[in-house]
Amino acid sequence: MSGAREPFPGLSYHGKVAFITGGGSGIGRETALTLADLGADVAVLDWTAGAADETAQAIRRTGREAVALTGDTGDEKTVVEAFATARSVLGEIDVAVACAGVLGAGGPVFETSVEDFEQVMGVNVRGSFLVAREAAKGMRKRRSGAIVLLSSLDGLQAEHGMFSYCTSKGALLNLARAAALDLARDRVTVNCVCPSVTHTPLLAGRLATLPDGDEILASYAARHPLGRVLTPRDIAAAIAFVASPIANGITGAAIPVDAGIGATWDNYRDPPWVAAAG
Ligand SMILES: NC(=O)c1ccc[n+]([C@@H]2O[C@H](COP(=O)([O-])OP(=O)(O)OC[C@H]3O[C@@H](n4cnc5c(N)ncnc54)[C@H](O)[C@@H]3O)[C@@H](O)[C@H]2O)c1
Repeated sequence: MSGAREPFPGLSYHGKVAFITGGGSGIGRETALTLADLGADVAVLDWTAGAADETAQAIRRTGREAVALTGDTGDEKTVVEAFATARSVLGEIDVAVACAGVLGAGGPVFETSVEDFEQVMGVNVRGSFLVAREAAKGMRKRRSGAIVLLSSLDGLQAEHGMFSYCTSKGALLNLARAAALDLARDRVTVNCVCPSVTHTPLLAGRLATLPDGDEILASYAARHPLGRVLTPRDIAAAIAFVASPIANGITGAAIPVDAGIGATWDNYRDPPWVAAAG
């Protein structure tokens, strides 16, 4: 080895454009703001009325450009048009993050309806596929880019009573690997980030439907080795790293952000239908 060593470049998104689905809330919103803090201009797609606009306004207050798009990430026409609009306003997309996701009704395999299964797969898997496909078209021409999909600890392992969701999040791991191989020689990376329990409006909404939501949250925190659940910022930090040029040696990976829970084997609890049977 000879020659001068380049100094470490640091984590910067100056001059870059990011496209983020589900950017109106939770992990997607925090990721949009984090990438803007690091210099990116950001397009946000969300299906909740006003949510993408609110994030776009927050991004503009940081001095970056933003585009707000409203629609369903599981719908092909919506995603194709959203990429076209983002490109025409902000320029070519360097980073695409598929954060939009739904839990569905929840429930074990023996109570799961076809409607629930298809809705969850339609948003979580078809939506991520459409983002990866549309991002890849522009990135491979430029031989540069990063695509990040939001899987879950429920993709790496399974959680009882969340059949549709666990199936969808597991599918994303191989979606990312297959796309990573297809794009590797184009120097486009595709990775999954896999959060454990993260305190977002998605989680808060779920807990609010349960009589003992506060206790459940406390027990989630206690069961994680770090003694806490994750924050949206914890997850946005991992996304910002893996989508940046300093991580361009990582592709086809599933990166846990799990407060250590994946390191243990002793967190099993009986599912409600077993506990109820005594
Ligand atoms: N919160 C957690 O504990 C957790 C853990 C692991 C993985 N995840 C994953 O992280 C991602 C973000 O979750 P979150 O907790 O921030 O959720 P959130 O509900 O707070 O935010 C998700 C956003 O996505 C939008 N969205 C949902 N479906 C959409 C669709 N079809 N089209 C466009 N927008 C849509 C929602 O309107 C919302 O603004 C999801 O994929 C979720 O499965 C979350």
